[in-house]
Amino acid sequence: MDKPKVVLGVSGGIAAYKACELLRRLTESGHDVRVVPTASALHFVGAATWSALSGHPVATEVWDDVHEVLHVRIGQHADLVVVAPATADMLAKAAHGLADDLLTNTLLTARCPVVFAPAMHTEMWEHPATQENVATLRRRGAVVIEPAVGRLTGVDTGKGRLPDPVEIFEVCRRVLARGVREPDLAGRHVVISAGGTREPLDPVRFLGNRSSGKQGYALARTAAARGARVTLVAANTSGLADPAGVDVVPVGTAVQLREAVLKAAADADAVVMAAAVADFRPAAYAPGKIKKKDDQDPDPIALVRNPDILAEISADRARPGQVIVGFAAETDDVLANGRKKLARKGCDLLVVNEVGERKTFGSEENEAVVLAADGSEIPVPHGPKEALADTVWDLVAARLS
Ligand SMILES: Cc1cc2nc3c(=O)[nH]c(=O)nc-3n(C[C@H](O)[C@H](O)[C@H](O)COP(=O)(O)O)c2cc1C
Repeated sequence: MDKPKVVLGVSGGIAAYKACELLRRLTESGHDVRVVPTASALHFVGAATWSALSGHPVATEVWDDVHEVLHVRIGQHADLVVVAPATADMLAKAAHGLADDLLTNTLLTARCPVVFAPAMHTEMWEHPATQENVATLRRRGAVVIEPAVGRLTGVDTGKGRLPDPVEIFEVCRRVLARGVREPDLAGRHVVISAGGTREPLDPVRFLGNRSSGKQGYALARTAAARGARVTLVAANTSGLADPAGVDVVPVGTAVQLREAVLKAAADADAVVMAAAVADFRPAAYAPGKIKKKDDQDPDPIALVRNPDILAEISADRARPGQVIVGFAAETDDVLANGRKKLARKGCDLLVVNEVGERKTFGSEENEAVVLAADGSEIPVPHGPKEALADTVWDLVAARLS
């Protein structure tokens, strides 16, 4: 089988060196990558590096290798074009259809999915001109990854940093897997909760659960690759990398998770509650470490109920037509308990899966049945968590349209 053909466009930003890592990931995972740098990009990383890492010649201008008509051929044959980093200048040119070098010509001739990973100073990113260009590109079906927040060139910090190349690679992988289909969540804001809450007993101990957050992160990554603006409310997921283009809000307890979800849900089109939220928390928090008393049984731990966030946001939707999805982890009578829970919570969809010490938690795979409020049941066979995530988004997108 032919390898998928990827064009890696590199424009002239300081983050151009990070595209070398993206290039490596793409080639090592079996993609045939042609790098098309702009003339400015070559000030940062030379043609020799791109050529050696990709195994292809590197051209910048339409006047290079004219006999091969590269200005149309590269774009026509691509399965994916990813521009990383995308400068403010490149976004403007792409939005306006300029074609004064090989990369801009390629963007006009490509009929495959296009991903832009912008990187620039915060002022350039926030400028209305850039924001309008980004909106234009998204309206036309391109996936434009939101820049990360962090250290920029020099001493500045803020929004505008290129997301981790590993995470840009993840977006590319998912966009390629979906093929030429439109990013069907473009223009939508989705909120996802992930991980497991921890309810503190004292400064060193907590009541927690085994949820790793991987299903919620798979939901976030797939939604971003389908064009959504994503807020990920992440409870105790410190081992997981922030997905590219996703706004991650870290929380600890059920009460904090509720606050963050309610705030983000105010303008959301869909909320997916994948986090394992503790039903109860210790009635009292001991400000000092609870001590073991010799020859005495420990005091029982008194618990109080936590708020039922899924029921609350389902009953009191922040927007008409907002789609609410819950997750139910069950250890027995899985479907019967799931149906009861769907009725009790009032959400639109409930993803029901069986959990146990060696099932689901922490694993890369999942198996579930999605129960819908209209009575339908959608079985999702054993497979990667991102396949279940895509099924959830298919069902959400159908309800949103
Ligand atoms: C040191 C340096 C760093 C730069 N970093 C960025 C950047 O991160 N993002 C950006 O949009 N422009 C950046 N620029 C400005 C671009 O290089 C400039 O707009 C150039 O015209 C872009 O050309 P291109 O879009 O054809 O690659 C930088 C310029 C210099 C000199």
